Amino acid sequence: MIYDPFVNTLLEWYPHNKRELPWRNTKNPYIIWLSEIILQQTRVAQGLPYFEKFLENFPKVEDLANASEETVLRLWQGLGYYSRARNLHHCAKIIRDNYGGAFPDSYQSLLQLKGVGTYTAAAIASFAYDEPVAVVDGNVFRVLARYFGIATDIAGNQGKKEFESLANKLIPKDRPAEFNQAIMEFGALQCVPKNPDCNQCLMKSGCFAFKNDLVDSLPVKIKKLKIKERYFRYAFIICEGDVVVRQRKEGDIWHGLHDFPIQELPEQSESQDEMVLLEDLGDFMTTSVSKTVKWYKHILTHQRIFANFVTVIVKIENKNALQVWAKQKGFQLISLEKLEELGKPRLIVKFLDDQKLSLN
Ligand code: ADE
Repeated sequence: MIYDPFVNTLLEWYPHNKRELPWRNTKNPYIIWLSEIILQQTRVAQGLPYFEKFLENFPKVEDLANASEETVLRLWQGLGYYSRARNLHHCAKIIRDNYGGAFPDSYQSLLQLKGVGTYTAAAIASFAYDEPVAVVDGNVFRVLARYFGIATDIAGNQGKKEFESLANKLIPKDRPAEFNQAIMEFGALQCVPKNPDCNQCLMKSGCFAFKNDLVDSLPVKIKKLKIKERYFRYAFIICEGDVVVRQRKEGDIWHGLHDFPIQELPEQSESQDEMVLLEDLGDFMTTSVSKTVKWYKHILTHQRIFANFVTVIVKIENKNALQVWAKQKGFQLISLEKLEELGKPRLIVKFLDDQKLSLN
């Protein structure tokens, strides 16, 4: 068979450089499955003792299925992400009960199992049954992106499809297991994420990234913005038409805008207790305290803000005391009319609009 030069070089590199790993000397789908599930969770060096422990305790899939969940979780201890261990156990029971203890014997039928996605199904089908389906994991993305110069985002579905399609074109029909092991091993040992030793690499003459000085830029992985949720509680302190206002400081998302005394809450709490600020305002000054049920939303690129308001009505005879208190805290006491003219965050505007409606 004639292979792509990439495949030729890879298959030449592999036998001289591969690590001796126990799951590579077997065609037993159970053992392969077990190793792949553990390796999804951790690196080879850390995963090895877990793999050995599991196999010692559960030599066959029925042994794993018959174990108590507690025993399985105890053996998994230290790997984290315990739902994976529960899925592993659940899947073993399905194989015992619905498949007579024998693993499904093709890529498509393996995909039906819970917790077995395209990567694991391809690994089992190729390693155990020599089915020519390519595995595509982080190592494979990196090796292919660099060698073939592919800049498609590997975090997106389009990228996944493109790399899967290329890997499935490259995989030799007569040596699928070896190819899959080799490309992952090449990514793990030679074409590593940071500072790969490209001068020593057998692939360098054919490698697009090496020839174009793009090794550090490929693969492309666009990070999803982590959206942080924040919960604010505002104190709307009002006395005879005047409100306590603060101007937001520099280095703040709403720098220069006006809002009210605020307290950030750890979560979307209904409790009023967290309004520490109001404690020193003193009960003696207030006639009533009520809280909006409504949470006002403000969506920013990397933050989602939810705010609600505690309305505090201060007795007219305490206006001077309120003024002193506000000043001490760095706030101002200004009329609602004046506040109308000042710049405010949108959710404050919305809140004030709702106040007007409820007053009318
Ligand atoms: N990482 C995931 N699967 C692997 C395998 N079969 N060999 C080495 N490293 C791996």
